[in-house]
Amino acid sequence: MTRHVLTAVAWPYANGPRHIGHVSGFGVPSDVFSRYMRMAGNRVLMVSGTDEHGTPILVQSEHEGVPPRELADRYNRQIVEDLHSLGLSYDLFTRTTTRNHYTVAQELFRTLHKNGYMIPMTTMGAISPSTGRTLPDRYIEGTCPICGYDGARGDQCDNCGNQLDATDLGNPHSRINGETPKFVETEHFFLDLPALSGALGDWLRSRKDWRPNVLRFSLNLLEDLRPRAMTRDIDWGIPVPLPGWEDNPNKRLYVWFDAVIGYLSASIEWARRTGDPDAWRAWWSDPEAVSYYFMGKDNITFHSQIWPAELLAYDGRGTHGGAPGEYGELQLPTEVVSSEFLTMEGRRFSTSRGVVIYVRDVLERYDADALRYFISVAGPETQDTDFTWAEFVRRNNDELVSTWGNLVNRTVSMIAKNVGTIPESGDLTDADRAVLATSRDAFGQIGGLIERHRQKQAIGEAMRVAGEANVYLSQQAPWKLKDSDPERMRTILHVAAQVVDDCNRLLAPFLPHSAQRIHEAFGRSGALSPGPELREVEDLDGGPGYPILTGDYSEQVGWESSPIVPGTPLAPPKPVFAKLDPSVVDEELARLKERAG
Ligand code: MF3
Ligand code: ZN
Repeated sequence: MTRHVLTAVAWPYANGPRHIGHVSGFGVPSDVFSRYMRMAGNRVLMVSGTDEHGTPILVQSEHEGVPPRELADRYNRQIVEDLHSLGLSYDLFTRTTTRNHYTVAQELFRTLHKNGYMIPMTTMGAISPSTGRTLPDRYIEGTCPICGYDGARGDQCDNCGNQLDATDLGNPHSRINGETPKFVETEHFFLDLPALSGALGDWLRSRKDWRPNVLRFSLNLLEDLRPRAMTRDIDWGIPVPLPGWEDNPNKRLYVWFDAVIGYLSASIEWARRTGDPDAWRAWWSDPEAVSYYFMGKDNITFHSQIWPAELLAYDGRGTHGGAPGEYGELQLPTEVVSSEFLTMEGRRFSTSRGVVIYVRDVLERYDADALRYFISVAGPETQDTDFTWAEFVRRNNDELVSTWGNLVNRTVSMIAKNVGTIPESGDLTDADRAVLATSRDAFGQIGGLIERHRQKQAIGEAMRVAGEANVYLSQQAPWKLKDSDPERMRTILHVAAQVVDDCNRLLAPFLPHSAQRIHEAFGRSGALSPGPELREVEDLDGGPGYPILTGDYSEQVGWESSPIVPGTPLAPPKPVFAKLDPSVVDEELARLKERAG
């Protein structure tokens, strides 16, 4: 059955280059899922972009001494390039500074307001005593009232993941100059979460098969639902679209209010760019459509509470009632797929402390598929996981190169050398039939695992099939039969080629670059794993142009075994993966040390 599947991928802040922790949380898993779903015949829409508003951007723009727009332009481009190199197959990767996004975010705000879910309240806002200017929550640091962590920020505690108000912090002080902020009265719009709590609870309790940690965390949030401010005293962001507010340069929508709306605005932008401006509705209006949101665990609150609350309020489904705005009734997430954290050599990633490995640096020195392999097989899927260079090299050499690369290589080179073309098969033995059945039957099992977001187990199974094929080849030893029984040799090589081709499809969602090369080496036509395209576009509504990632993924090879074609010429292979010298480990550790100072 063809389903419409929305893959909604967390939006990276355009405040710096992305490190491997980021892409192991949101990037690679969402791409593996989308690639598989397309191969399985679904209509996938994969969207994201850079998150360019809010204090994260302001903090960095102050730090670098450039205006926020310039900073966002620069890092948007770098991030687009990195995600492109990693082969992430977005239908649209855009940004939150497009005019289209402003329009959509403001339409949501207006409808939420009209439906009664945006309540104005006077609160205490921080100002800096030395400058008299407002001090955004994120610039304030102090002790978390919930877990006691002393590096909590005024908007959120990174240690326990809870959202905070700056006034809750113990010993609040400015991150800029250490001074104690002064709190004064200020007016803001609050999302009336208590009015949506019944609807949120009904929705969350109807969710099945989420990762237990994610569901438990989300259900817990229901225990303490208070109205949350959706506007900020800040001059960088989307204007609040109400009379008396929209011209005030110091009031803006809260970055998280607008960022999550990106999923919808990017879908709309995608549709507008395809020439069918209503095409997005198939993923958003139809209750049969499914949507999967990919992120790291620090983003769960925003996806299992704030975003669904915004959608319910837009639809008019809270206690204040109301009616949907111009986009009609919008569907809630099917699943919030959150991963845990990646640490590095036992420490937490920290850009400021130099404990970081940038995606770009890895891809300059190693293949994208080597990184994707590591993330898929050893990433932080359901628990915090450590990245070490030693393990990276070991996984690459002992698994990717020895098991899979070697199987491809020996199969293709034996055929190229002894036959020249993919051989016909003669009569099959039990051993032939068994290995063929193993790879053919693996599609159902591995596909099921990817659908249930168990990618580590899925790639493990695919590698196990490759391992069995290696055993088959060693036991059958076709190289010994060249003179004594050439027909039997050809049959074995035919079987091996079929199994390699099957394995290649099973691994394609994980290892798209090498999969495409192997696919072509087997004389296959068509795209097995089409890559994203980096394109410069105009803003649809007259704003400045920008780079996007998009792609044509419509011609997909199916998620099934398909008979290889005897007679196809095979050239002697080039190695598919590069073996890494163990000295890489010391080199990389030295680099890290240098960076950390
Ligand atoms: N920029 C946020 C972060 O890096 C993630 C935003 S996800 C979104 O933590 F969907 F809300 F945009
Ligand atoms: Zn805390």
